[in-house]
Amino acid sequence: MDSSEFLEFLAGRSSVREYDASELHERDLVFLLDCASTAPSAGNLEAWDVVLVRDPELREALSGAAFGQSHVLSAPALFVLCANYVRSMSRYGERGILYAVQDATIAGTYLLLAAHALRLVSCWVGAFDEEEVRNIIGLPNHVRPVAIICIGKGAQPAELTGRMPVSEHLHYEEW
Ligand SMILES: Cc1cc2nc3c(=O)[nH]c(=O)nc-3n(C[C@H](O)[C@H](O)[C@H](O)COP(=O)(O)O)c2cc1C
Repeated sequence: MDSSEFLEFLAGRSSVREYDASELHERDLVFLLDCASTAPSAGNLEAWDVVLVRDPELREALSGAAFGQSHVLSAPALFVLCANYVRSMSRYGERGILYAVQDATIAGTYLLLAAHALRLVSCWVGAFDEEEVRNIIGLPNHVRPVAIICIGKGAQPAELTGRMPVSEHLHYEEW
């Protein structure tokens, strides 16, 4: 893939919130996780973990925790990306809290792009009640849920979203 194909690949992804009912193949799940595990992390500590949720009752409960977002129920696979504070804080102390969140976020981003490479569709879900999610999937105290990533096969074509001009993000030398 050359650089223009890479940009085309990235620009061709967009969030999809309707999925058909089919399950993901086991080999696709393995590919997604293999891709996520190539993500960079602070000190290569990989201070992220993921809970794969496919059980319909748990998906329904997580959909409730995500304030009723229906795609959290209809997606066949949910990847709850978590920051593992202990893994990062054991080396970096308080700074490790931020590193663990960054590690989990980058791993989640890789997962999203890996799904796109498989021509699956996805949606990053950040709006949820953390305590509810924690209880539903039994997270220990040192682990924080960062995102629920919904992945499945699209039930409708993806609609591409626009972006603000890059110049609005960019500051030269100083803010
Ligand atoms: C931190 C974060 C939180 C998000 N939370 C939600 C969410 O709770 N529900 C949802 O449907 N989409 C959510 N999204 C998806 C965004 O709405 C979407 O990425 C954005 O509108 C850009 O569209 P695109 O993904 O199609 O490019 C979230 C995305 C990010 C990065």
